[in-house]
Amino acid sequence: MAANVAAFRAVLSRHRLAGQIFYAHKANRSSALVREIAATDAGVDVASLAELQHALGSGLVPERIMATGPKNSDFLWLAARTGVMVSVDSVSELVELAALVTDRALPRVRVLVRLSGFASASAQVRSRRSRFGVSAAAVGQVLDVLGKHVDALDLVGVAFHLDTIELPEKIVALEGCLGALDECRRRGLRPWSVDIGGGFGVDYLADGAQWERYTSALTEAVLGKRAPLTWNGHSYGLRAEGGVVRGSLNLYPAHRPVSGAAYLDRLLRSTAPDQRRPLGGLLLDNMYELHVEPGRALLDQCGLVLATVLEVRDEDNGDTIVRLDCNARDVSTEEHGVLMDPVVVHRTAPAGAGPVGAYLFGNLCLEADLITRRKVFLPTRPHIGDLLAFVNTAGYLMDFSATQALRQPIGRKAALYRDGGAWRWCLDEQYWPVRHGPEAA
Ligand SMILES: Cc1ncc(COP(=O)(O)O)c(C=O)c1O
Repeated sequence: MAANVAAFRAVLSRHRLAGQIFYAHKANRSSALVREIAATDAGVDVASLAELQHALGSGLVPERIMATGPKNSDFLWLAARTGVMVSVDSVSELVELAALVTDRALPRVRVLVRLSGFASASAQVRSRRSRFGVSAAAVGQVLDVLGKHVDALDLVGVAFHLDTIELPEKIVALEGCLGALDECRRRGLRPWSVDIGGGFGVDYLADGAQWERYTSALTEAVLGKRAPLTWNGHSYGLRAEGGVVRGSLNLYPAHRPVSGAAYLDRLLRSTAPDQRRPLGGLLLDNMYELHVEPGRALLDQCGLVLATVLEVRDEDNGDTIVRLDCNARDVSTEEHGVLMDPVVVHRTAPAGAGPVGAYLFGNLCLEADLITRRKVFLPTRPHIGDLLAFVNTAGYLMDFSATQALRQPIGRKAALYRDGGAWRWCLDEQYWPVRHGPEAA
């Protein structure tokens, strides 16, 4: 995680930009990870009252915390009371925050206004309709509210977070933010920052040729030109129509060489369609600070989910089924469209070595409880009691969705750390950098 923070920091330095990297806490519930972030120079983006309390209690001072997303009044109050920067999601939230600060005589709050629905005069790109943020076209309304509450609200900048990995949309959004900041200055305000949210992505699969081969094979299977690769004809959004494939592949693009910090670099090097200059240069000319809120990208190469094999069964049609002692939402790679094969950890030496193609089932009473709806090709056949390890899962996969269905406990979270040459572990909540982390070594 610290290495990922450093990579983002290096991109900011390369573009000679000041700014902060806020880890989007929502991507993982772990305490160890937030405490590790506290041990770096990064900040945390919190999206709920509990996340804010967690960040404060993990050693992050308010200057290193950004509150985002829709907020209830408790969350707004604690953010304002402690002096956290607030990325405001709507005009009504701005009005509520101003009233809270005034009525309770709280210190002036630093706010960013989250915008959405950007359009460009020169580019044929429009951002998709969003449930979040204030329409970029309605920025005047926001400025009216700010103008009425200068004693309560200190506008430090504008923000966006687009739920997409598409670069053209982000280019238009970033230039749109620069336009909104111009408007703020015309009204006599002095904002100094842009927050471009997260969505920098992860390169889950290093080998691009493997991804090409797999998706081609999936297409052939949908067309019936080869044996099925999925359970009950599931097709990840593709369909065969008159011998051709239609639809679009509903999967995370597993091979994404330009992701994480490299994606930020690409964005800053991109030319703004209206002003025809690189976006990084435009930020620098205006001496704006750039804030980013990566979740998934800061967790790249962190976390693994371990599941015990309950049953291995060969069906009459030749399919092999591996049932695991967890459910699909405990792993959640399918829900997020991230296809990663697990690593088999044998408890005893593998008998009858050789690869096996298998479907992985969960332990719920639902036909839909498939940990993989596709056949995974494991290098050796697992046995009852073996473990399957799903790797690089810290970014959302288990943490966003695991439930206690059937009163089954959610898997315990353990923090793994190096102690001299050895790996050790403790329960997540017991981890503190001073005792277990790199600084201790
Ligand atoms: C406001 C905000 N910032 C940052 C993020 C993190 O996005 P990612 O994990 O894709 O980087 C999210 C994710 O939903 C978000 O809503």
